[in-house]
Amino acid sequence: MKFANQVAIVTGAGRGIGRAIAMRLASEGARIAVVSRTEKNSVQVADEINAKYAGLAKAYAVDAADHAAVQTLCAQIITDFTRVDILVNNAGITRDGLSMRMSPEDWNSVIATNLGGAFNFYQGVARAMMKQRSGRIINIASVAGIMGNAGQANYAASKAGLIAFTKVVARELATRGVTSNAVAPGFISTDMTDVLSQEIKDGVAKQIPMQKFGEPDDIANAVAFLASTEGKYITGQVLTVDGGLVM
Ligand code: NAI
Repeated sequence: MKFANQVAIVTGAGRGIGRAIAMRLASEGARIAVVSRTEKNSVQVADEINAKYAGLAKAYAVDAADHAAVQTLCAQIITDFTRVDILVNNAGITRDGLSMRMSPEDWNSVIATNLGGAFNFYQGVARAMMKQRSGRIINIASVAGIMGNAGQANYAASKAGLIAFTKVVARELATRGVTSNAVAPGFISTDMTDVLSQEIKDGVAKQIPMQKFGEPDDIANAVAFLASTEGKYITGQVLTVDGGLVM
């Protein structure tokens, strides 16, 4: 049980990659704050964890982009669980469109959720982690933040920003026992990529050296590694999990 007595906050844990991360950390003994925008989804995942692993999860709902609400929520989680060891900033959205025609609303909402959301949760837990002189912050970025992607100016900028933010936090907290890393998924089969047409999916798969999409568990495994004591000397890094797409 790698994470016995540890508490993890996983955002966007109501489905997809976040759900897989929550399940994976719980399977190794972590108590989980399952955070989602929609209460129904987080309750469902928390119930699933509690049924499988006996009373280790609690459900919360918040808009990650709302700074004040996230501070209140983090304080509540730290009260409920008495500590926080792992923060996984996974909540994310896409609002795709060509950059010339992209509306300011679509630009702002993606930056506010994907980048602002991570900043908000970071501020909600940083003090507690620094005080206990240990912590793991793992931000779910994207290969789009490394190589860009046509039609995703807002999304790629948010993920590139998230990578830079990860490195700043790594530098600021390195002497406090807190590590900060990013995992950059390539194409993973979830609701987010289900909206792509079969033709686009086939075209993408051809560009991936492994010629297929990954599974949410592929990302959860990388997160579990970085969150464990095995990852204790790793900070400020971006681990791409993408079947070889970026190399
Ligand atoms: P998804 O759309 O299935 O799940 C996203 C989750 O984030 C949902 O539970 C949703 O409720 C939550 N969320 C969205 N906005 C929120 C907000 N304002 N406040 C709180 N929660 C919010 O997406 P998926 O595929 O599981 O993606 C998870 C993360 O992985 C995202 O950050 C995404 O950008 C990233 N990613 C996904 C890839 C893929 O191929 N699926 C590739 C690269 C990165």
